[in-house]
Amino acid sequence: MLTNERRQVGRAVPRIEGPLKATGRAAYAAEHSEPGLLHGAAVPATIARGRILEIDSRAAKAAFPGIVAIYTHENRPDAAWLDRSWQDDTAPPGHTYRPLQNDRVLFDGQPVAFVVADSFENARDAAALITVTYDRDVPETDLSAKLAERYEPPKKRSGISPPPEPRGKPEQAFDEAHVTISADYFIENEHHNPMELFATTVLYGEDGSLTVYDKTQGSQNAQKFVCNVFSLKQDKVTVINAYVGGAFGSGLRPRHQLFLAVMASLDLKRSVRFEMSRRDMFYLSYRPAMHQTVSLAADAEGRLTAVMHDTVQATSRYEDYQEVVVNWSGLAYRCDNVKLTYGLAKLDAATPGDMRAPGAASGLFALESAMDELSYAAGLDPLELRRRNFVHFDQNENKQLTSKALRACYREGAARFGWERRKPAPRAMREGHELIGWGMATGIWEAQLQSAKARVRLSANGQVIVQAAASDIGTGTYTILAQIAAEALDVPVEEVSVQIGQSDLPETSVEGGSWTAASSGSAVDAACLAIRQRLLDLAQKDKASPLKEATVEEVVIRGGHLRLDVDPKASVAISELMARAGETAIEEEGEVGPDAKQMKKFASYTHSACFVEVRVDEELGLVRVTRVVSAVAAGRILNPKTARSQILGGVVMGLGMSLHEESMIDHRSGRIMNHNLAEYHVPAHADIHDIDVHFVQEFDDKASPIGVKGLGEIGICGVAAAVANAIFHATGIRIRHLPITIDKILAADKTPTDRAA
Ligand code: MOS
Repeated sequence: MLTNERRQVGRAVPRIEGPLKATGRAAYAAEHSEPGLLHGAAVPATIARGRILEIDSRAAKAAFPGIVAIYTHENRPDAAWLDRSWQDDTAPPGHTYRPLQNDRVLFDGQPVAFVVADSFENARDAAALITVTYDRDVPETDLSAKLAERYEPPKKRSGISPPPEPRGKPEQAFDEAHVTISADYFIENEHHNPMELFATTVLYGEDGSLTVYDKTQGSQNAQKFVCNVFSLKQDKVTVINAYVGGAFGSGLRPRHQLFLAVMASLDLKRSVRFEMSRRDMFYLSYRPAMHQTVSLAADAEGRLTAVMHDTVQATSRYEDYQEVVVNWSGLAYRCDNVKLTYGLAKLDAATPGDMRAPGAASGLFALESAMDELSYAAGLDPLELRRRNFVHFDQNENKQLTSKALRACYREGAARFGWERRKPAPRAMREGHELIGWGMATGIWEAQLQSAKARVRLSANGQVIVQAAASDIGTGTYTILAQIAAEALDVPVEEVSVQIGQSDLPETSVEGGSWTAASSGSAVDAACLAIRQRLLDLAQKDKASPLKEATVEEVVIRGGHLRLDVDPKASVAISELMARAGETAIEEEGEVGPDAKQMKKFASYTHSACFVEVRVDEELGLVRVTRVVSAVAAGRILNPKTARSQILGGVVMGLGMSLHEESMIDHRSGRIMNHNLAEYHVPAHADIHDIDVHFVQEFDDKASPIGVKGLGEIGICGVAAAVANAIFHATGIRIRHLPITIDKILAADKTPTDRAA
């Protein structure tokens, strides 16, 4: 545990790399360059399923003498053959897509040719002149037409728990219950749309080594992929992702820009950059469409007697992409009769990908909407219904919880929101032409610890260097690692230089699953502890040392001295210890990983309560989310400023999911129709009003060595349901299909059956 009373941890330290970003000095993947750099552009398929008959590049070549190469499936350089060479650390089971592999088209926008030219403009314009003729198959892209073909994934995706076995007698309990609800919920495909486009710049070294600037959530994952696919030695390839302009899960897997840029660079022995267009970004990773059914039953007091949750989720033809969608319904509330089922359906589309709280953001939309429906059916306040079903145990896994301060989230969130002033009946609150609705939902996400190493170097002059391959995808990793080292070694944060985002630094998992702060943070803390131990060992070489009998737990580092915690006078200067040992600095590594013994006994989750106010224009069907209170329990908060930013971002993304975001497919062609930010609407400033982020106190000494549970994903969990529930409260209209756009509200308003009685 962190023990220093001169706190750096817990302080609202501004992002230490903020000035670099604000002044444009932080270079992103597409901002590295060198003289003679070549530029790539992809030609996207204009069909969603079929075969390539002919690729005609004569016009492109005639118009653009600056073309250096055009790659297609007919001339693509060799790459690995075995499936496992293509499977990165986060790949689902199946046959990973291989760019330019053969004449098959598996999804809309699949790159069918790759042009390399002397400038970005020439590459892009030449790509536009390449014509492709296809033998077209009829694509199947509509999930609702494929529900009957659902199947259980034969191979489990690593790290994704399948639904638990049913418990109790859910069907019987449902039939015998005092009150029941059962409903279907739908979500459509959504794309991540980070600000930074996918890009790779490969600098080709004189000795054939590659320096690869890649937009990725894991430099070592990308490096392993490149080495495996192109049969390169690890020391020939360095991947750097020092700055990442958002990713939200889209950068977990190596994307085809990495493959194509490295392929061209190796083939041409030149430096190459390939930056995708915004359109290209819609041809990969997305939160998949889902069809969900939730059935809930309760007794006269509102206690759940049955929970059933079934999901059919879209995947591609070539991979069984899986998320944890339904399991949440078996652990969110106390219930002894539970049945959770999960299936996939194959579509002619690119494989979906993890998108911020994958599975939970979507699964909780269904569960927490259903809980709201049950609250009205049972005649209970929605918050009261949840309180009555509180559980401090993981019934799915039969495990204790490391901590669960969700009751405090309910209490403090409700107080900040003013929930007790809510009028229970739908359509009971109004101001002018606007109906006002208040809704809420519970959020849950996993708190995970992943394997991570870190190296820390303390110099005699008090300067500190922290090194790890960890990524900062905009989350604040640089800053919190600096704070942890600064606190442990008692130096100002400004004295700590954090070097992350490079594959040759100490090994770290991809940045995902909200685990980086807990994992890399604990590794840095462990390295600092090792430094303290080294200093103590040095001190104890001196027989007259005042620390002769001390253990490492009894000493602290304060103001450049190692001293007894209880007796400041028993102290030795660190510079003196180093000088005596003939050293100018001490460097140690720290390492953490999941504790198998503890994981058998304990499960660990973050929790939140999300309260939402909407105002709905009755005539226009226009919804404004005017207030959100997100009360979060996530263990120790390292930095309230960067932590708040994570929750704000999660809530904003949740509002996008609720009201705006949908990747629209024309199922006749299987093609995405709105692959641009003009027609795919992510929330803009005008969509966002008051968001109040509140962290409740939560002590947890088991989730991770430093007591951190993680924040990247909990902010989005529950938001979509809270919005849908608020819209119901405002209007009496229940929308079970995201996003909740104006047309759905206006159409439902004319369908009396969807209206509250
Ligand atoms: Mo996250 S969706 O694991 O980056």
